[in-house]
Amino acid sequence: MNEPLRVGVLASGRGSNLGAILDACARLEFPARVVVVISDRERAAVLDRARAAGVPAVFVNPKDFADREEFDLALVRELERHRVGLVCHAGYMRILSAPYVQAFTGRALNIHPSLLPAFPGLHAQQQALDHGAKVSGATVLQACVPVLETDTEETLSARILAEEHRLYPEAIRLFALGKLALQGRRVVVDVS
Ligand code: GRF
Repeated sequence: MNEPLRVGVLASGRGSNLGAILDACARLEFPARVVVVISDRERAAVLDRARAAGVPAVFVNPKDFADREEFDLALVRELERHRVGLVCHAGYMRILSAPYVQAFTGRALNIHPSLLPAFPGLHAQQQALDHGAKVSGATVLQACVPVLETDTEETLSARILAEEHRLYPEAIRLFALGKLALQGRRVVVDVS
């Protein structure tokens, strides 16, 4: 069997998506392993989750760097030190600068709690409610969920999150198997 894909995860918060990814990686046949988790927040629960799973957990302090680019270049160095083949952003709450994006073009995934391009930015679930959308969902791959009349931001977020936890490991699996191809803005999935 080929060496599993080396995955780095960048996250700022509680890390439930990291949890779903780690659960998938714990299966012997899964073609990827998380080799480092990096956060811009020292006390983020995601770092505790990584440590509990025996994965290197690294806090990189934005205040230690002159500007966004310098900080992002430190992230690139850390990811490269761990020889990651794919970086997964899972609730990472900072804008990424051009040098970072260039370093990982074609080998980065992000997750967002709406059906992009609808409702980008913060509070995507509340935006869906405010617009009266009847469906919303998650994007890494995409899945949709109903929006109910009775939904609050919390209940809709929970419904979407369940899809996120299913989609993210599946996206990583497909990437590891070479089944995702970039065509401009489009990601084409090889379903053969
Ligand atoms: C998820 O809803 C993700 O889509 C968004 O931030 C949330 C992160 O949740 N970008 P968690 O930290 O993985 O639990």
